[in-house]
Amino acid sequence: MNKIKVAVIGLGLMGQSQVRNCFDKLEDFEVVAVCDNYQTHIDNIKDYFYQTGRNVETYTDYKDMLNKCDMDLVAIVTPDFLHEEMALACLEKKKHLRLEKPMAITIDGCKRIAEAAKKAGTVVQIGLELRYSDVIEKIRNHIDEAGDVKLLWCHEFRHPLLKKEGSVPDWIIKRKYSGGTLVEKNCHHFDLFNMFAGAKPVTVYASGDNQVEYRHTDVLDNAFVTVEYENGVRAMLALCLFAPPRNGQKHMPHLEFGLLGSKGRIDMRDDELFVWDRAGKSEMHYTYIRNNYEAHCEDINLSLKDLAKCIREGKQPLTDVYTGLNSIIVAVAAEISAAEKRVVYISELEEKYGVSYKI
Ligand SMILES: NC(=O)c1ccc[n+]([C@@H]2O[C@H](COP(=O)([O-])OP(=O)(O)OC[C@H]3O[C@@H](n4cnc5c(N)ncnc54)[C@H](O)[C@@H]3O)[C@@H](O)[C@H]2O)c1
Repeated sequence: MNKIKVAVIGLGLMGQSQVRNCFDKLEDFEVVAVCDNYQTHIDNIKDYFYQTGRNVETYTDYKDMLNKCDMDLVAIVTPDFLHEEMALACLEKKKHLRLEKPMAITIDGCKRIAEAAKKAGTVVQIGLELRYSDVIEKIRNHIDEAGDVKLLWCHEFRHPLLKKEGSVPDWIIKRKYSGGTLVEKNCHHFDLFNMFAGAKPVTVYASGDNQVEYRHTDVLDNAFVTVEYENGVRAMLALCLFAPPRNGQKHMPHLEFGLLGSKGRIDMRDDELFVWDRAGKSEMHYTYIRNNYEAHCEDINLSLKDLAKCIREGKQPLTDVYTGLNSIIVAVAAEISAAEKRVVYISELEEKYGVSYKI
């Protein structure tokens, strides 16, 4: 079986991990080139390649890499505001793409990428890997036990975002580079809402502010967001980026996700899952044991296995461009709602940007 030749752009926290813990760990892929315009990160990856006895091409200009290097797939792992420009350049060259979330920081940007992907006819995966995670997959398998889903919720009460080093320092706490917290961080969670609601969102109302951790920036550090769907499902996100870790939980001690339906309740607390019937009887308790907690790599590897299969079979993956676009439509609606203190109708964004939320 031929390996899929991968080039990675962006070698910060996530990009380095994707080379070392993801692409290098999977049979399907071979990293043939990497690119970063920050010398320390290039030096780090060169050390790693040296230690693993390989001679991988390194670039500081991604356009140069696209022109000179022979690759099948490009993984874009750069700050969010660069996703659109880089994705369009890769698609112009008809490369398969793994594009980190958020797909782009604007709805327009996502639309342009979706159009370019269609024209290129290549496989494009958006890095919304939570969909692929073991526990979320288990929820899908047990969903009938909840009956008709009515309520969805997600609590992300966590420590502040990790500091960013690289050619665009601390881009994550600058709205013009990240699109704002609800776009940058919570597109993951809006994507889960969209998936489990299985219908079109109608309205979004968000109340949020930057009162503690990010009071000197222009991004939110806490918010409540409500999304209502056409089929009557309502979803609630609660976000706090200045919460201390809970006792005894070292890794990712922050994500709770759940749903309530006509017959029962499903609760995910980090890597633990509970299913209860309406009598409150515990039907199921499951814990997923991670071997590697670094940078979501186990979930990403599940997503990469799907990506490899899709590239070989000419199909689009579970987290395709429309999944990415849908998550950004809801996230942008939430950012507007919090800023303007009003309910935002998804239809007004569809009209304004000439896009359709796709089920
Ligand atoms: N899927 C997930 O769960 C998840 C988790 C964390 C981060 N991410 C995403 O991954 C991406 C990167 O995040 P990170 O935490 O690694 O950020 P980071 O700041 O640590 O790394 C970004 C890297 O991109 C490089 N870069 C900037 N401009 C460049 C350019 N023009 N050409 C080449 N390289 C350039 C920087 O020098 C830096 O090394 C972001 O889009 C982020 O949202 C996804």
